[in-house]
Amino acid sequence: MPTVSVVDLSIELKEIEDTQKVVKVPEGSVIFDALDDQDITLPHGCLSGSCGSCRVVILEGIENISAPSVVEADTISSLKESLKSLIGDKIVSTDLRLTCRAKVLSGSIKIGVVRKN
Ligand code: FES
Repeated sequence: MPTVSVVDLSIELKEIEDTQKVVKVPEGSVIFDALDDQDITLPHGCLSGSCGSCRVVILEGIENISAPSVVEADTISSLKESLKSLIGDKIVSTDLRLTCRAKVLSGSIKIGVVRKN
C-alpha cells in the first residue's frame, strides 16, 4: 500500500516545519480523497482541477504519481509563475501538483502543503 507524507510548509516557506504526517493510502487513489478519508483535509476549492487551491509541492516521489491531465497541467502552468515569490529558490524547481487530480500509483510520496498565495 502506498504512503503519503504530508508536510506543512511554513507561511514564509523558509523552512519545512516538523509537522509531517505519514499515512497509508489505497493504490491509485486521488491524493486529496485518500487524505480526506483519514481526516487530513487539505486546502481546496473546486475539486475539479481548475482553481489551484489544492496545490502541493512534491518533495519526494514524483515518479509515484499519475501524469497530470490537460486540465491539471494548464492550471499548474498558470500557478507556477504566481507562486514563485512564495516557494522561492529553495524549491522552485520542484513539481507542483493538484491533489484533487493527482493519484498515488505506488511507493511513497512526500507533499508540502502551500497554504497561502
Ligand atoms: S480544488 Fe480546485 S484545483 Fe483542486
